[in-house]
Amino acid sequence: MAGATAGRTYSGPVLFAFVRHDSPWPMTARPILIDTDPGQDDAVAILLALASPELDVTAITAVAGNVPLPLTSANARKVCELAGRPDIAVHAGCDRPIRQPLVTAEHVHGKTGLDGADLRAPEMPLQEKGGVEAIIDLAREVEGLTICALGPLTNVATALTRAPDIASKIREIVLMGGAYFEVGNITPAAEFNIFVDPDAAKMVFASGCKITVLPLDVTHKVLVTPGRIAAFREMETRIGDAIADWTGFFERFDKEKYGSDGAPLHDPCVIGYLLWPELFSGRHINVEIETASELTRGMTVADWWGVTDRPANATFIGDVDAEAFFLRMTDRLTRL
Ligand code: BDR
Ligand code: CA
Repeated sequence: MAGATAGRTYSGPVLFAFVRHDSPWPMTARPILIDTDPGQDDAVAILLALASPELDVTAITAVAGNVPLPLTSANARKVCELAGRPDIAVHAGCDRPIRQPLVTAEHVHGKTGLDGADLRAPEMPLQEKGGVEAIIDLAREVEGLTICALGPLTNVATALTRAPDIASKIREIVLMGGAYFEVGNITPAAEFNIFVDPDAAKMVFASGCKITVLPLDVTHKVLVTPGRIAAFREMETRIGDAIADWTGFFERFDKEKYGSDGAPLHDPCVIGYLLWPELFSGRHINVEIETASELTRGMTVADWWGVTDRPANATFIGDVDAEAFFLRMTDRLTRL
């Protein structure tokens, strides 16, 4: 598969000769960079991307979020090794938000961030280049790079601030974050990724980049129910077992908190959106980020009904066909 190899520089989009079921023509794999804070749901998103020939994972950049940076950068490498892809370049990015002290989520993800499945310590090296530099370099080198942002937006915002020229080079930023009707999961007003670094989010939403948002409104429909966990187990692979163990671990938190059938599988929605956009629907609207108020810090003020004349700056996804998404995702993950 195409992609960045540890120790060598990625030099542009690579043609991947696969044929879609519905198309007789070979397609070009879409180059993506995954910025992430694994997290069990981040891990499933990485695996889904690595299982998908339509996507070319040029690099992974880790950021502090669910757990501190040393853990997220180790977890990203553990997941690559689980997928049999030690060649993926993993870079460590920012270890704290731009202005706020770091808030983590061990209460959801466990002490390691990947509690539930016992993965061995990674052997593949962390790249010497930092995560912010990797984003800047790849945005300049790779034509049409898409950034998949699965954690607080610190790395992405810092890259855009240090190298404003990359805003016009990045094809799209697809991010998990924010909420509208579902409001907050870390405070009554805010979703975790945006809450942790609202200043970074504000910069990203003001960057002029094409932005697509997968908020809680979508991810709270994508629940890992007992039946869906059983389907992962029935894959009868190390990867299926790891996913079943991870999702089995973190669903306890959401079941207790929300009384739902299972935990939301947030971050895979970003990759699912790139693979199967027809399963998702939303609106192109204005989204602003609250950074000043203590009460509503990190709130995504999404003008869903167009009640202001502020210009649209993001596509805010509102709905998903969760059943089709799970069927396709499970099928895809069996390929790894
Ligand atoms: C987001 O926060 C993290 O806990 C998850 O990995 C996801 O990115 C959901 O609010
Ligand atoms: Ca995440």
